[in-house]
Parts: sequence; C-alpha cells; structure tokens
Amino acid sequence: MSDSAIAPGLFTPDLLADPHPVLHQLRAHSPVIWVEPLQGYLLTRHADIVAALKDRRLVPANMGQGLDRLSREERDELAPVLQSVRLWMGHTNETDHLRFQQLLKRYFTPSTVNKLRPRVRELAEELVAAVKDQGGMDVVRDLAYPLPANVIAEMLGMPTDEREKLQAWSKDILALFAPADMDALRRCRQSVLEMQDYVRGLVAARRADPRDDLLSMFVAAEAEGVVNEDEIVANCVLLLFAGHETTANLIANGLVLLFENPDQFALLKEKPELMANAVEEMLRCDGPASVIIRVTAEPVEVAGQALPAGKNVYLAMLAGNRDPEVFEDPDKFDITRTPNRHTAFGLGAFYCLGAALARMEADVCFTVLQEQVPGLRPDYERVDWVPTQVASRRLGSLKVAF
Ligand code: HEM
Repeated sequence: MSDSAIAPGLFTPDLLADPHPVLHQLRAHSPVIWVEPLQGYLLTRHADIVAALKDRRLVPANMGQGLDRLSREERDELAPVLQSVRLWMGHTNETDHLRFQQLLKRYFTPSTVNKLRPRVRELAEELVAAVKDQGGMDVVRDLAYPLPANVIAEMLGMPTDEREKLQAWSKDILALFAPADMDALRRCRQSVLEMQDYVRGLVAARRADPRDDLLSMFVAAEAEGVVNEDEIVANCVLLLFAGHETTANLIANGLVLLFENPDQFALLKEKPELMANAVEEMLRCDGPASVIIRVTAEPVEVAGQALPAGKNVYLAMLAGNRDPEVFEDPDKFDITRTPNRHTAFGLGAFYCLGAALARMEADVCFTVLQEQVPGLRPDYERVDWVPTQVASRRLGSLKVAF
C-alpha cells in the first residue's frame, strides 16, 4: 500500500495498539507527508522534528482552531473558553510568552520539585493504601489520574476536600481536542468558568494571606506589575490541562511497558537505582504527548520539501523517538538505555516547564508501587487504548492485581 494511503489510517483504533510498523514505514519512505484527514503535514524523522521544534517560523497551533468549524452562535457560546485560551502562555506573542515563561521558571525550579517530593510520596502512598486490601485496582482511576491532580492542587494550595473538582474540570477541558462534539464543548465551557471563578477566589485569599505556593508567587508578581489577574487565572487552567492528563498517561502507559517487558520489570525490581532511567525510556517509547502541532507562519522548507505558510505541521514524537538513526534497536524497551535524547517534553522555546515535576511524580509513583504492592501484575485481556484525536496516547483503564 502507498504511504499516502496508509497515513490517514494512522490514528484509527486498529492502529492504536501498535502504530509503530506504520510509523517506521512512513519515516523510511515519506518522512514529510500531507495527511488529508489531519489537514496537515506529518513529520516522522527525529532530525526533522528537532529542527522544526527549534524553528521559530513554526509557531504553536491555536488550541481552539478546530472550533472554526462550528457555527457563529456556537462559537459565541464558547467565547469564555476562547478568551481563556488566548491568554495561555503558548498562545500569546513572543514577548508575553517570554514574560510568563520567566515568571513560571521562578516556581518550577529543582528546589521546588525536591521540596514537593515527600508530599508527592505521601499522596501516592495514601492512594495505594486506599486500595491495597482489595487485591487489585484500576491504575488509571485509582492512582494515575488522582496523583497529578492532587499535586496540582498542592501547587495551587487547594483545600483537600475540594480537590475532586480538579479532576472533573480537567476531563472536561480535554474536549478542546475533540471540537466537533458541542455537548462536550459546553461542559468544557462550564468547567473553564467554574475553575476560573474558583481560582479568582484563591487569588484573593493569597493577596490577603500569602503562603509558600504557586498562587502566592503569582500574586507577588501581580504586585510587581508583571502579570494581571486574568492571565493568572487563565494560566492556572493551562497548568491543570498541561500537567494532569499528561502525567497520568506517563504513569499508566509506563506501567503497560513494564508489564509487556517482564525482563525489564524484573531488572528494575532488582536495581531500583535504574528508576530515573526507566522513566526516560517510558517517555521515549510511549510518551503521552504523541504529537506536537505547529503552524507555518511563513513558507518553510522541511527535509527538502517546500511547505506553504498557514499549514498545520504534526511533529510525530512517537515516531521520532523510535528513529533508528538516533536510537539503537528503537523498539526495544531498555531501561539501561543511555544516552536517551527523546523529545517527549518538546524542545527549544516551548520546552515543557513541568518536565522535572512529571519525572519526579512518575519516579515516586513507581517506587511506591514496588514497595507497597510488589506482586503487581496485569489483570486485563487487552490494553484499553482510547481512540482520541492525535495529540495524546492514553488508556481508558488499567486493571491490575497484587
Ligand atoms: C509526562 C508529563 C508531561 C509531558 C509528556 C509534557 C509534555 C509537554 C510538551 C511536549 C510541551 C511542549 C509543547 C509545545 O512545544 O508546543 C509541554 C509544554 C508545557 N508543559 Fe508539559 N508535559 C508534561 C507534564 C507537565 C506538568 C506536570 C506541567 C506543570 C504542572 C507542565 C507544564 C507545561 C507548560 C506550562 C508548558 C508550556 C511551556 C511554554 O509554552 O513555554 N507539563 N509539555
């Protein structure tokens, strides 16, 4: 079958379980290809993806772009969501992006991540303890989703009894990736509004009584004139969106990799000091952000092919991170692999600010599982990959026994 015939099927349910043979074929024969259903070019070679991530003529795609297909009335109804998205740091201009990035770097330091580690461990232990006597759990529902949601709640300084809201908001906000479904988008609107109201309340509380959390850092920056309240509120929604689902998927997808590679799972049990390396390999083999979407701000040439301005470009990290030009035996899940130059957190100007935090959360989570439920084993017949739009690779459930 020709590459232009197989490319459209790439993200269909059939290929979810193992998209790699198709991605290998595309990378080898058509590393830059127009994919009609995506209405964009797909890049699959590591070198081209790295070059594209460094190229400032390729700008982040607007999250709400799929909403263009909706009617005028529907778009008006969704105006609050679009207003929020417009203030998300990646969607602003270069100056505002840099201003916000510098600000967030004040918070996302190695020392903040280290300070959070004992608390993340406590949270993970509590979640595992809650199911330990049941002899099994759904990792997605009971651990992978609640853990990062709780961590974001800690960062925002949310009281414990209000934290479940975050998970519901996050789930609804995901609808921005499936803009055809108006009901889901209405729930998304509702959740964005609720979360914004809620964060405004927290901001007011921190102004009166600052603490040692992310919101207090924002409020201090507001007093210096660096940000305004609308930006703070919108970017808290972004942080939830950026840090919840992604980290949850790293935990769940990573566990599937361990189950599918029992020799590596055994090696990790024997040598827990390989944990950080194992997390890198999980990010490489099945990183949660399977594509990054860019738009050509002007005509560019990629791998000898001229791309016109205004076109979507899908950087398939799932493919780049298994490029045999860069990774020896790329389909092998090898927790001793080094170096491991994957792009699971992006690269360059928009590199993930939460990378160290996500790495730490996954490390702590797998460590707690090894300690608390050493007999952990799969309890499912087939892996429950969710057919989503292209951008995330995630599981609907992951039943385990111990
Ligand atoms: C395994 C978990 C994660 C993965 C795979 C991931 C992936 C990514 C990727 C690929 C980008 C770059 C997007 C682009 O180039 O357009 C990004 C950006 C970002 N991530 Fe993460 N992320 C994760 C966790 C987190 C966490 C825990 C947080 C914070 C709580 C976070 C906050 C951000 C922010 C704020 C940006 C935007 C940076 C900018 O625009 O300069 N991420 N992430």
